[in-house]
Amino acid sequence: MRFMILGGAGFIGSAFVRFLNSLGFRPLVFDLFTYSGRIENLLGCNFDLIKGDVKDFNTLHSTISNFKPDIVINFAAESHVDRSIYSPQDFVGTNVLGVINVLEAARRFSFDYVHISTDEVYGDDKCADENSPLSPSSPYSASKAAGDLFVKAYVRTYGIRAVIVRPSNNYGPRQFPEKFIPKAIIRTLLGMHVPVYGDGKAERDWIFVEDTVRIIYDIIKYAEWKGEVYNIPGGQRYSVLDVLKILGEVMGKEMKVRFVSDRPGHDRRYCMVSKLRYNVTPLREGLRRTYEWYLSNKWWWESLIDDRFFREDEPWK
Ligand SMILES: NC(=O)c1ccc[n+]([C@@H]2O[C@H](COP(=O)([O-])OP(=O)(O)OC[C@H]3O[C@@H](n4cnc5c(N)ncnc54)[C@H](O)[C@@H]3O)[C@@H](O)[C@H]2O)c1
Repeated sequence: MRFMILGGAGFIGSAFVRFLNSLGFRPLVFDLFTYSGRIENLLGCNFDLIKGDVKDFNTLHSTISNFKPDIVINFAAESHVDRSIYSPQDFVGTNVLGVINVLEAARRFSFDYVHISTDEVYGDDKCADENSPLSPSSPYSASKAAGDLFVKAYVRTYGIRAVIVRPSNNYGPRQFPEKFIPKAIIRTLLGMHVPVYGDGKAERDWIFVEDTVRIIYDIIKYAEWKGEVYNIPGGQRYSVLDVLKILGEVMGKEMKVRFVSDRPGHDRRYCMVSKLRYNVTPLREGLRRTYEWYLSNKWWWESLIDDRFFREDEPWK
């Protein structure tokens, strides 16, 4: 099986490459290496590499034409909600136009397409199943929802073979420190406070990244490729403050919480159910493994802590 991994140098993409390696596959990684895509994430992995932009139609199509993948999995995205509030146009570029380029390739070349979306497309305050309507709140989730709708349209209009996968909030090794859990771990290791938006009661459904990639691989085995949706909730819904409490216990450190003004449009609660059945790593165990990874891999994050999204309490401002 020939796998092509778009965005394979990012957080979830690189975990997927590792998982494929453990099964004996050597995928082709296609990545632009934006701020969150790092060659360090693929250290020790077995892969071929093309540096390229999904927005660049010609490079994407010639790579696919030469490599002839059986499956293309698209993790390439602008992925951070705060950045989308600051700079929405970048999100339309990669998360919508980039997706259309991949879909155009799917029309011309014969491969199965796994489109990685997010629980955020459903919006907040209700428990979504795979048939629930989309109601995105942020420029990020709006761009992801638009990408999903184009996948559906290409399946219906052109008959391409695709599935849409919607994981909930992932955490684990190699997540860029702008995201809440690595930010909390690293700032606490540095003796800094942890900024918490609003009242800290916003609830997320947490899933360990190694569970997500295993479940995506299982979906590939059973997919019908008719544009169907697969939700991947972690089934572990905790508020930001609850996560910090468990993380503090895991780290054996006091978390210095500082409440800051709420993110504009902040979703209060994500909740999904899935037609799939699977086991996941308990949150405390996943947080322990995540903390141990950041503790023993300071070299990975020390050069990143100048990033304004790591340093500032309200980075969208
Ligand atoms: N992290 C989460 O909690 C989470 C939850 C649900 C869904 N998702 C989705 O999973 C996917 C991966 O998320 P992640 O957390 O690994 O993100 P990430 O930011 O860590 O990685 C994104 C990767 O895409 C690459 N990329 C960005 N723009 C590109 C472009 N134009 N061309 C080629 N490559 C490009 C980056 O270099 C990086 O390697 C995204 O689609 C995201 O929306 C993430």
